[in-house]
This record gives sequence, structure tokens and C-alpha cells, in this order.
Amino acid sequence: MGQIKISPSILAAPLAHLAQAAKQIENAGCDYVHIDVMDGHFVPALTFGEQITEAIAKESKVPLDVHLMVAKPEIEARKYFALKPEIITFHYEATTAPIRLAEIIRENGMRAGLSLNPRTPVSVLGDLIRYFDVILLMSVEPGYYGQKFIESSWQRLKELNALKERERLAGRIVEIEIDGGVSDQNATALAKEGADILVSGSYLFKGDMTERVQKLRGN
Ligand code: DX5
Ligand code: ZN
Repeated sequence: MGQIKISPSILAAPLAHLAQAAKQIENAGCDYVHIDVMDGHFVPALTFGEQITEAIAKESKVPLDVHLMVAKPEIEARKYFALKPEIITFHYEATTAPIRLAEIIRENGMRAGLSLNPRTPVSVLGDLIRYFDVILLMSVEPGYYGQKFIESSWQRLKELNALKERERLAGRIVEIEIDGGVSDQNATALAKEGADILVSGSYLFKGDMTERVQKLRGN
């Protein structure tokens, strides 16, 4: 297990100062910039699209981690290909053809991620996980930052980690990303239970980011 990767959710930044937030993420030594794309349909809120994402990308050298909370990922995902994010994640609940979209994302040189809402059983991943590089487990209901970590996520992470191990034995590497309510209160335990990437919004933007990134890494 390598060092846990940190992906700050820029949605929790002061939104009129995105350039400053992007620089802050770079200076704090983070691994990704997590972009929460919400379309007002899959979730009630409306956040960023590809144009703002492009503007954010220009402000830092940190790779993008695009999280699509949209009703039509087959249409929306393509809009981000030109920006070459490292990861594009879409929701299991929003698509009927996840394998096809994963293949398209991979063919275009990015890592494909699949996200599960808290109500979706981890067991749906049984035959699907092999087509993905990242599984993003929502540990809050999607839609807003600043929510409380849902406790049943621990059991879900355990199940997912067992699948990750099964894949590893078959020669396939899949990373686990946890999104929602992550702070210094649970980060070390999440890493111990198999998380590879931690998304954090309100915790990182509410204090000294550099210090808080170290805390999330258990330093
Ligand atoms: C929720 C988003 C999360 C959120 C994380 O729909 O996917 O990325 O912004 O924010 P915190 O860490 O505050 O829960
Ligand atoms: Zn997210």
C-alpha cells in the first residue's frame, strides 16, 4: 500500500476564487483536483461544466479527478476528454451501459471510475469491477459538500476491499476512492480498510490546507 492520495473537492472552495483554490491545492501537495460536476437532474444542485473545469485546469499542474453526478454520463463524459483528466468517474445509477462508457474513457487514455450511491449494494460490482480502474464509494448522498459521513460506509468499504483483493489476485489493479464526510477523524481508518484516494471538501478548505493534508495522510 502506497501513500494515500488526496483529492480536494474544489466545490467547497470560495467559488468566486477558483484560481486561488487551484493554486492552494497545488501548493498543499495534493494528488488531484476533484471536480464535482452536478447537472440539476441526477442531483438537485448545478455546479461546474467543462468550461469552468478547463479554467480550473489552467491554474494548476495537479491532475483532474472528474466526478460526474449527471443523468446522462454518455453525453457529458465526452466533453471532458479534451482536458485529459486522469480519472473520469460516472454513476452506476445513471447509466444502463457502464461497460461501453468505461471502454470509451479508457480508449481515450484516461482512467475509468464508477461511483456507487449509499443505497446501491456493493454486490452490483461483481461482474463490472474488471472494467474499471477506480471505484468511488459515496459516503454521503451525492449533491452537497459538508454532510456527515454515513456509518454504513465502513461495511461497504470492507466488501469493496474484498473485491479489490479478488481483482488483484487476477492481475487487475483497481483503486478505492472515498467521497463525502472525510476528515482527520476517519482518514487513517479509511486508509487501513483499503481506501487509496480520499476526497475531502469542507475539512480541507476550512483550515490550513497543507497541515490538514498531512493529517489526512496520518502524519
Ligand atoms: C458530494 C460530492 C463530494 C463533496 C465532498 O456530492 O461528491 O465530493 O463535495 O465534500 P465534503 O468533504 O465536505 O463531504
Ligand atoms: Zn465528489
